[in-house]
Order: sequence, then structure tokens, then C-alpha cells
Amino acid sequence: MIRVLFVCLGNICRSPTAEGVFRRLLDEQRLADRIAVDSAGTHAYHVGEPPDTRSQAAARRRGIELGAQRARQVVTEDFTIFDHILAMDRDNLARLEGDCPDDLRHKLGLLLDYSPDDGQQDVPDPYYGGGRGFDEVLDLVTSAGQGLLETLVPRRR
Ligand code: 4NP
Repeated sequence: MIRVLFVCLGNICRSPTAEGVFRRLLDEQRLADRIAVDSAGTHAYHVGEPPDTRSQAAARRRGIELGAQRARQVVTEDFTIFDHILAMDRDNLARLEGDCPDDLRHKLGLLLDYSPDDGQQDVPDPYYGGGRGFDEVLDLVTSAGQGLLETLVPRRR
């Protein structure tokens, strides 16, 4: 089993969206028995809460249900358990680098490093922004999620 963890700040907007999008890709491609996905936040502000209602609504418009997810904070064991720990932005990554044991640092990265559209490194935080930000998150994590899957399980079509 390959284990993937998506990480943002609050675990109520970007990383739950990435988890929901990636899980749907796994289901569509019948890979759910080979790749596991989870998400967490660098901070504990929203622990136990479901995703932001704006994230849920934007995902639902694309047929993706996020409502069963509950926010949690990254714990030290995550660095051992997960194979790929992918941050939504460079602040999240810096925080993970500070907490991760040196010998496990190779597991850390940015989700958008897997995007075919070069350039952008950060999934912008939609929490304080307008409604369009939630659709932008979906667009970004969908294209990077497809790139990630192609990297993890290449040449399967
Ligand atoms: P997320 O968005 O990191 O994508 O879940 C945020 C949610 C909450 C806060 C910041 C970002 N907050 O400061 O409460």
C-alpha cells in the first residue's frame, strides 16, 4: 500500500478538498486497494470540524462529498506511516520540515510539484477570500492529483 497525506494549515479547506478529489481519482481508476489517502493540518485551530461549508459546496458541485471528513493536526507518527506527505503551500512545507525527523525528510514535498502546469507552487488559501477561491483550489488539486497518480502508478492505461 502506498500512503499519501495532504497537509494544509487548518485541514478544513485545501487538504480535505485534495483528499476528496484524490480519493475519487483512486475510485475511478480502481486503485483504492493500492493507494491510501488522508489529510491533516499543521495547526489545531479546527480539530474535529468538518470541512468549511464553502469547500463542501464547491466540491459537491463536482460530485465530490467532503462532509464525512473531520480536521486533525499532523502528528509525529504521520512522518513514519505515510510515504508521501504533500503540503498545499510553502509555509505548510516549512512547518513540516521543522517537525519531521531528518531521515524522513525525503517524504515531504509540495502537491503542485506534481502539476503539469509549471510555475505555481502554492495552492492559495481560500479561507479569507471570496467564493471563486474554492473553485480554484479544486482546479489546482485536480490537475496535480492526476500528475501525482501518474507518478505513483505509471503507464497503466
Ligand atoms: P486551510 O484553510 O489551511 O486550507 O484549511 C485555512 C483554514 C483556517 C484557517 C487558515 C486557513 N484559520 O486560520 O483558521
